[in-house]
Amino acid sequence: MKIQRHTEMKFELAEGPLWNPQQQVLFWVDILGKRIWRSNADGGDLASWPVPDHIGAMALRKNGGAMLALRNGFNSFDFESGECCPILDPESTIERTRFNDGKTDRRGRFVAGTMDYRESDPVGAFYSLSSDMNCVTLGSGVVIFNAPCWSPDDRIFYHADSAKGTIYASDYDIDTGAISNTRILVGPGEAPGAPDGATVDAEGYIWNARWGAGCVVRFAPDGSIDRTIEIPADKTTSCAFGGPSLDRLYVTSMVDPANPNDPSDPEAGSLYIVTGLGVKGLPEPRFAG
Ligand code: BGC
Ligand code: CA
Repeated sequence: MKIQRHTEMKFELAEGPLWNPQQQVLFWVDILGKRIWRSNADGGDLASWPVPDHIGAMALRKNGGAMLALRNGFNSFDFESGECCPILDPESTIERTRFNDGKTDRRGRFVAGTMDYRESDPVGAFYSLSSDMNCVTLGSGVVIFNAPCWSPDDRIFYHADSAKGTIYASDYDIDTGAISNTRILVGPGEAPGAPDGATVDAEGYIWNARWGAGCVVRFAPDGSIDRTIEIPADKTTSCAFGGPSLDRLYVTSMVDPANPNDPSDPEAGSLYIVTGLGVKGLPEPRFAG
């Protein structure tokens, strides 16, 4: 196994790594830097697009362009013009939240959730946006929504609340997009740090970036720890498989806004490429709308 920096660059709050197999490129977002980023598999050919507000997540659309989950709600995005077009905002009346993480299910729904800027109160929620732009609330009472991802058979939806230190598993109905029977998969203190972004590999194991613990943990579907990969940055925010064979793990990290020059975390905000894991990911579906 080898861990290398993806680029020399650092980002305020890098998140949402997303491999696009058609173009063989990696996308990610800088939430607080308000920017979408793209590179080739090795971190070269960097390109970026500014967006008008904090950007929690991005889904690539089936017919080109992207759907963004911004502070002001769902927006469509055109990479050619760089134009953003607001679609709908499920939390238009709540000033203290923003979108924080999101992913597309295998029927093309964009599932994304929000967080409390103050990271203290359960004022956030998570939503499912369907191809006809209908938005359904899947859950509420969330402080910091994170880690949406599905089991390979689509029967389980994993999600986390970082502030509660908990990863949940819910039954998922891929035909309707509804969740039920939500239970705790990994509780607080059962793994180092707090749960941040996650992905599921081809064997159905969950890879979860552990915020504040500088690592990515691979959990078995029963929630037990299978392995831990140490990462040189402390606030690891998300991870995704990518590369030509879908066997590299891209890991993002963030700078602590309260302590931007933290001497104990000199690589904060870096992106990493982990190779030689011997595990493959699954291709990410596209938003059907
Ligand atoms: C959020 C950060 C937050 C962190 C805490 C991340 O997903 O984007 O703002 O501080 O989770 O776990
Ligand atoms: Ca996250």
